[in-house]
Amino acid sequence: MSRRTLIWNARVVLPGETARTSVLIEDGIIAGVDPAPHARADEVVNAAGLHLLPGVIDDQVHFRDPGLTHKEDLRTGSRACAAGGVTSFMEMPNTVPQTITVEALAAKLELAARRSLVNYGFYMGATTDNLNELRRAGRTPGVTTPGIKIFIGSSTGNMLVDDQECLEAIFAETTLPITAHCEDEGTVRANRARLGRPLTVHDHSRIRDDRAAVTATLRAIDLAKRHRHRFHVLHVSTAEEVRIIGEHNRLSAPHERVVTAEACPHHLFFDTSDYDRLGTLAQMNPSLKTADDRAGLWRGLTEGAIQIVATDHAPHTLEEKAAPYPGSPSGVPAVEVFLPLMLNEVNRDRCTLGDVTAWMCDRPARIWDIVGKGRIEPGYDADLVLVDMEKERLVRNEDQLCKSGWSPWHGTRLQGWPVRTWVGGRTVFADGRVATEAHGREIVFDRKRGGYWATGRTQ
Ligand code: DOR
Repeated sequence: MSRRTLIWNARVVLPGETARTSVLIEDGIIAGVDPAPHARADEVVNAAGLHLLPGVIDDQVHFRDPGLTHKEDLRTGSRACAAGGVTSFMEMPNTVPQTITVEALAAKLELAARRSLVNYGFYMGATTDNLNELRRAGRTPGVTTPGIKIFIGSSTGNMLVDDQECLEAIFAETTLPITAHCEDEGTVRANRARLGRPLTVHDHSRIRDDRAAVTATLRAIDLAKRHRHRFHVLHVSTAEEVRIIGEHNRLSAPHERVVTAEACPHHLFFDTSDYDRLGTLAQMNPSLKTADDRAGLWRGLTEGAIQIVATDHAPHTLEEKAAPYPGSPSGVPAVEVFLPLMLNEVNRDRCTLGDVTAWMCDRPARIWDIVGKGRIEPGYDADLVLVDMEKERLVRNEDQLCKSGWSPWHGTRLQGWPVRTWVGGRTVFADGRVATEAHGREIVFDRKRGGYWATGRTQ
């Protein structure tokens, strides 16, 4: 029997406009926007005074499952997503075991089907010798992946691939989109050797400096361009990379544009001055940069050189983070506060709700060829989030649902919070409570779409 839910009288953020209207969900799909006033429904949700957005698609999380589940697991990570309005995530391969074979990828998909409250996809990780697996992953029926992740720069999990010959082969001989962590290992090692003395966390940004990020991003863009391979730059941290990416795409003929990029909340909201306050809680890779870099990232987003925002949610326990630098691990959790951080900026007039849904919903779907997500349109999946733009709340460690139980935004007051989240038409978060059942599904990718630059359907 079909089940219908009517979300009545919301301010609905549609492609190109916000309209006061209603949305009808039928069997997990958006059946209508502005349905007949008396449309039959099993459930009516009064959304007067609230905004309805497409669910957020976060293309960069580390949920640590399997193998590092003392930090996070697919259940806790996806619960945090549900409360934060994130209805789909794409997870990174630096788990234990690493996701570097088709079998490991299939195992993660199976695990998520049992544990995840929200929709999921998993990257294939590149190593110096798994080219065949990367190629198999693109053509094994029933095993889906958004693409290949390369650590061109070491980070958590020993997955460094910076040998030129290996990189050339991966870009030349695989077909899945490639994404990379760009920090140049040679520059990082030389910086560290030069400093020599006992280190403090402030040195993290001197060791992983702007030159390390710029050098690796230039190298990756060169590979993508020569091999005409779709490439997405993860967590851009410097104003110079924004300039380089923007310039690259401006100078490429439309059919040759292959590069897209993202910024993360920690680089958009923190800079090197935050080490004094946060210590190693502000340690992540790429490192924090200057206030000018931070301003450059915001400019990149509003001007379009950077297309999307993603969290790089990378939890470690507070005990682990408390180790003296450089023994402390890099990474911060963020999925729960991701949307509120950005809604708060809408309330401060830094950007619009249209910008936020383009950066966090529509464009991630276009970049990764995701089918049926990222927009409120008939026929799209009913992955939706109802937000109260007036609601103010303090971010507090004790309220965090993610397993690590802390946030670098602890003590920050934000205005604009999710009040209800649907995944495939089912409520996974409402009245401050998160569902207990796994409602998530595998994200479906359709490579024939050709990615962000090919769709021409960008807000
Ligand atoms: O800070 C980071 N932490 N950056 C990464 O690239 C990896 C991540 C992690 O997995 O902890």
